Amino acid sequence: MAAFTFNFASMFVLFASMFAMFVNAIPVGLVGRDVYVPPVTSPAADTVWTVNSTATITWDTSSPPEQITNKVGRVFLRKGDRTLPLLLADGFDILDGSVDITVPWVLESGDYQVVLFGDSGNFSPNFTITGGPPY
Ligand SMILES: *[C@@H]1O[C@H](CO)[C@@H](O)[C@H](O)[C@H]1NC(C)=O
Ligand SMILES: *[C@@H]1O[C@H](CO)[C@@H](O)[C@H](O)[C@H]1NC(C)=O
Repeated sequence: MAAFTFNFASMFVLFASMFAMFVNAIPVGLVGRDVYVPPVTSPAADTVWTVNSTATITWDTSSPPEQITNKVGRVFLRKGDRTLPLLLADGFDILDGSVDITVPWVLESGDYQVVLFGDSGNFSPNFTITGGPPY
């Protein structure tokens, strides 16, 4: 009975240490990092962009988590609830807080949005792009 108890305890310690080794072996990218979704501050609802001109996209970087899973930013254009495969900017640091882009030559409409991706997509409000033919 004493031997059984001893073996059971040994087994438990063995499994516990194996589990600890397993947990320590998980890459840091899978645990202990936060999804960072900084809010877009521009374009805002009253923003008007003109095709072919330069515009600045800004976002709030005031409270980043300690660890960011994906620091590389990317911005897509979105229209009327559909994200377009149209990159406005790519490969910048998500902590920059702003990026300058050239407004694409698109039809004039008031239901464009930008989607800022770092860890996760974050939408701007609907705003207007003008200067192109009407939608
Ligand atoms: C943006 O505009 C589209 C199309 O008019 C509308 O369906 C959508 O709800 C609007 N989104 C927001 C966040 O207002
Ligand atoms: C925008 O640029 C395209 C060529 O890239 C040109 O054909 C178009 O006329 C320009 N539109 C405006 C409003 O400048």
